[in-house]
Amino acid sequence: MNRYSKIIGTGSYFPSKVLTNKDLEKFVDTSDEWIVTRTGIRERRISEDKTVNEMAYEAAKAAIEDAQIEKEAIDGIIVATCTPDYLIPSVACYLQGKIGVKGPFAFDINAACSGFLYALAVGDSLIKNGLANNILIVGAEKLTSILNWKDRSTCVLLGDGAGAVVLSASEKPGIRSLILHADGEYTSLLECKAGGSAFLANRDNFDIENNLFKMKGNEVFKIAVRAMADVAVKAVEESGLRFDEIDFLIPHQANLRIIDAIAKRLSLDSDKVVVTLDKFGNTSAASIPTALDIARKSGKIKEGSNIVSAAFGGGLTWAAAVFTL
Ligand code: UT7
Repeated sequence: MNRYSKIIGTGSYFPSKVLTNKDLEKFVDTSDEWIVTRTGIRERRISEDKTVNEMAYEAAKAAIEDAQIEKEAIDGIIVATCTPDYLIPSVACYLQGKIGVKGPFAFDINAACSGFLYALAVGDSLIKNGLANNILIVGAEKLTSILNWKDRSTCVLLGDGAGAVVLSASEKPGIRSLILHADGEYTSLLECKAGGSAFLANRDNFDIENNLFKMKGNEVFKIAVRAMADVAVKAVEESGLRFDEIDFLIPHQANLRIIDAIAKRLSLDSDKVVVTLDKFGNTSAASIPTALDIARKSGKIKEGSNIVSAAFGGGLTWAAAVFTL
């Protein structure tokens, strides 16, 4: 009998505080018109009261309820984040404590915006190898905490939130293909050095502003369009499905122009593409699981839908997956 992994539940959480493009105009040299035309983003959420592990908990709780399993059935927790609350312990361990289960493995993964698909690949492998039956996989970020609010080229892009899935052993697929890539030649294109041991250890050089989130957006854009489209095409080819059997694209939500280019490469009309960045901006590792949850709960994506998902982020990292709900 074949052993696959399958997403059986989803959940998401966004903070209630909305920061619109018009709000940003009040304190940074930008305009609603520039942000909408260049990115598609209209507003984003800011977490004022919840930490990353608290947002992760809200999303995880919803995913467990949606999966209709007992929390005791979870035998592993993986959190994808590049904005953990602390260096130690991991967000995943805090989350395990909050859920109130003892024993399941728990660890974080940092592959920036590709983190959720990386975590899905690890979860899929653990399940296929028989090391776990039900893994909670979460993408959770508080990116607004690492932004330089004086840098208009980045502070208009990012937002906070968390998305979660329950990935379970199944006789039917499930996850059909997963491809992960990275290129360390491009580490300097997207970085946040503040908070790491090299930066904290060098206390004489506490130049926080210059070590918050930084991105050479234009260079990232050019690489992202090609890499994300190529990896998405390859993931479909390896999935065993034909291109015309793909029902939806759930891309990482960084820029509508990137999303449109990938949809075009896959010959998918706009009604087959899940877009949430207009309301939530780029939430890095949280963007794909939150988009998946929103699309499922709205009825757009149904049981049996074939989905291709692709992401791109700091590292540089990129990844794609094809799965059937
Ligand atoms: O999620 C992780 C992966 N990240 C991505 O995939 C992000 C990829 N990059 C992008 O999405 C786009 O490159 C950005 C949205 C970040 C920038 O858009 P762009 O079309 O590449 O603009 P640009 O950086 O080439 O800047 C064009 C102009 C510049 O002015 P000059 O030099 O032409 O006078 C910028 O200074 O736009 C200016 N600019 C702004 N103007 C108003 C940059 N940011 C802003 C802003 N408001 N917020």
